[in-house]
Amino acid sequence: MIKKAVIPAAGYGTRFLPVTKALPKEMLPIIDRPTLEYIVNEAIDSGITDILLVVSGNKNSIVDYFDRNLELEYKLLERKKDYEYGLVTNIAVGANLYFIRQKEQLGLGHAVLQGETFVGQDDFAVLLGDDVYVNDDYPATKQMIDAYDKVKSSILGTIEVSLEDTKKYGICDPIKQSSDQLKVLKSVVEKPEPKNAPSRSAIGGRYILTSTIFKYLRSQSKGKGNEIQLTDAILRLMNEEKVYSFDVDARRYDVGKKIDYIEAIIDFGLKRDDLKDDIQALINKKSK
Ligand code: UTP
Repeated sequence: MIKKAVIPAAGYGTRFLPVTKALPKEMLPIIDRPTLEYIVNEAIDSGITDILLVVSGNKNSIVDYFDRNLELEYKLLERKKDYEYGLVTNIAVGANLYFIRQKEQLGLGHAVLQGETFVGQDDFAVLLGDDVYVNDDYPATKQMIDAYDKVKSSILGTIEVSLEDTKKYGICDPIKQSSDQLKVLKSVVEKPEPKNAPSRSAIGGRYILTSTIFKYLRSQSKGKGNEIQLTDAILRLMNEEKVYSFDVDARRYDVGKKIDYIEAIIDFGLKRDDLKDDIQALINKKSK
């Protein structure tokens, strides 16, 4: 059973500077809720009961957001604003949230390593704090947990990208090409040119990892970008254990990228009864 998740949210968010100088990119709102809340909710909806958020020194707004604000709650009750009271008190209900600071931003692998004590001997999920997956009926992490239950091994969630886009991602190299959603990997190739891409399955922001990964993360030297890369440790893990790829069935928004962020706002708005007509009218007006 996968019950624990680590959500790294300590990066610098340089692609969103200058706002990320003071506002964590994981707190950028998709309309009126921070990006990170959708990710925490995906974990909860997938049956995760304990979530570790990896944050950095200037990301206290993340800790504050998931904490209660008793003064605000009191004021809302006093003013009989019951609806708003419900909004601020119904956040991340159903899981225990834990926080740890990654004292230096040494890379994603190093961020996950901060979860070692929290995870212990258990296998666990990793959800990147800036990657939103949408499948309302069957959350991405739940799909991966169900796949894990079959193989009890590490699984890298993948999305299908165009051949042209393979050079932007870590691309999975399966032992056997097949149309199966779940495939054993022989390797992952970092940002291959289209002609060298072993597949079109790109690693997205969802992982299930066995606790063996920590052995490799602890001894992992810096790689690309002078950072401790999670993928490098996973490649070494492959020599000891089977690692699978899994094609996630969901729409993915890489909210760390401006155009995906804007699209997420529009798509989420078009699904909301209080906003969809106005947004559609706005789109129609702008596209004339
Ligand atoms: P990214 O590489 O997308 O995040 O890492 P970044 O470094 O903050 O972004 P840019 O490229 O500078 O714009 C994916 C996730 O891993 C976290 C980030 O916060 C993000 O949620 N991360 C990354 C850490 O927690 N620690 C790190 O040292 C690096």
